[in-house]
Amino acid sequence: MPRPRLLDLFCCQGGAAMGYHRAGFDVVGVDLKPQPRYPFEFVQADALQYLANHGWEYDAIHASPPCQRYSVGTPQENREGHPDLVGVTRNIILATGLPYIMENVPQAPLLSPVQLCGLMFPQLRVIRHRDFESNLILFAPAHPSHVGIKIGKGGFCCVSGNGDQKGTRSGLSLEERRITRSCATWSRAMGIDWMTRYGMAQAIPPAYTEYLGR
Ligand SMILES: C[S@@+](CC[C@H](N)C(=O)[O-])C[C@H]1O[C@@H](n2cnc3c(N)ncnc32)[C@H](O)[C@@H]1O
Repeated sequence: MPRPRLLDLFCCQGGAAMGYHRAGFDVVGVDLKPQPRYPFEFVQADALQYLANHGWEYDAIHASPPCQRYSVGTPQENREGHPDLVGVTRNIILATGLPYIMENVPQAPLLSPVQLCGLMFPQLRVIRHRDFESNLILFAPAHPSHVGIKIGKGGFCCVSGNGDQKGTRSGLSLEERRITRSCATWSRAMGIDWMTRYGMAQAIPPAYTEYLGR
């Protein structure tokens, strides 16, 4: 049986894509920037233009518009300088009539999203809340309590920022930051072994979209 084709908009290095691939989809990614690490068929283009022109060629759509406009990681005074793409992306997706999932940070203006967290997936060691809006009914696994969760060496890590070495608002000590910022630590924590540090800072763990895709 042919695998359903999924259009992965704003794909970056393919965290979401890998999960859908594992769930049984053939994935095509679209990003404004070249993405040599993207592990599947890739088109360099504006996501919204590509969606308007080619969306009908697919069976389902995933979109991860940039989150800097909404993220608590962006200083309040800088947020307006980042594009607000959630609403316009939704409008064009809805016009296709296709099943879709749109992902973003919890502060983004998504409609009735479900939230996933690394604690829901035993194979992950990352604290990374992400919200998912859909025109299908989505379910989330039970959200384990964060109380008593160890962050830092031997425990969970927070993947945040742009993957650079600057400080974060995570509240971690310098030593904990050093550990949780190592590329190998992020890689194990997220279940991702093909990306740069920047790619992982942008990505969602493939386990999230594998779960939703199935
Ligand atoms: C948050 S990242 C996506 C992460 C991806 N879902 C993952 O799990 O790895 C957002 C991406 O959107 C891309 N982007 C920003 N504006 C875009 C546009 N107008 N069209 C296509 N891609 C765009 C950025 O280059 C960036 O790679």
